[in-house]
Amino acid sequence: MAEKGKGYKSVIIKVKRYDPGKGFYDSEYNVKISRYSTVLDALLSIIEKQDPTLAVRYSCRMGICGSCGMIINGVPRLACETNIMGLGVDKIYVEPMYNLKIVRDLVVDASDFFKKHRSVKPYLIRKDEEEQFRAAEEYRQTPEQLENFLPFAYCIKCGLCVAACPVVAEKPGFLGPQALAQAYRWYADSRDQGGISRLELVDSFDGVWSCEFAGSCSRVCPKGVDPAFAIQILKTEIFKKKLIKR
Ligand code: FES
Repeated sequence: MAEKGKGYKSVIIKVKRYDPGKGFYDSEYNVKISRYSTVLDALLSIIEKQDPTLAVRYSCRMGICGSCGMIINGVPRLACETNIMGLGVDKIYVEPMYNLKIVRDLVVDASDFFKKHRSVKPYLIRKDEEEQFRAAEEYRQTPEQLENFLPFAYCIKCGLCVAACPVVAEKPGFLGPQALAQAYRWYADSRDQGGISRLELVDSFDGVWSCEFAGSCSRVCPKGVDPAFAIQILKTEIFKKKLIKR
């Protein structure tokens, strides 16, 4: 109920928790929030005033670092960018990210996520290796060339797309939307000379061909990246390259 004139109200925050020794269990908290409060604010208030044992990971508190991803009322979201009143409900259920190993409570282990990200070589590849590390001059691009990859360069590696992906849930070996979108981000960069080798990295059962185009990755991205679209372009590029080779 809102407290008249103060813009405050109380909400119930229910948290799905995990203790390596105990397994899963729920904890419920009554939290006073203002109209500006985010889910992260509420969780930090719980830790400060009610339960210091609740484990949460965060850093920037402004939607940049990507470390506060969690499932809020069934949807992968950044806790620091989710305004509680904007959810329009008085009871919020917070769970740890899906498809990632849980360390404790809302803290997940992102090492497999970053391993997949690294596997697509998320950096410029140049044919001249000496130049790659000691470029004599900057690589110039036209605004059009920049536009080819820029929408995919906004990824903050929060993992929400992976948490939303039904294929990752079924096939843990699948590279997943984040790594594949980044494979396309570098493939589409005019400065990159990785060319066909980049396509070969993702032309596999665990690569683009497992994507079923559910599109849930693109719907939850807090930065408007469209991994589902990137994956379909990669499929088309692989197909075109194979036709040319024949
Ligand atoms: S705390 Fe950095 S994105 Fe939320």
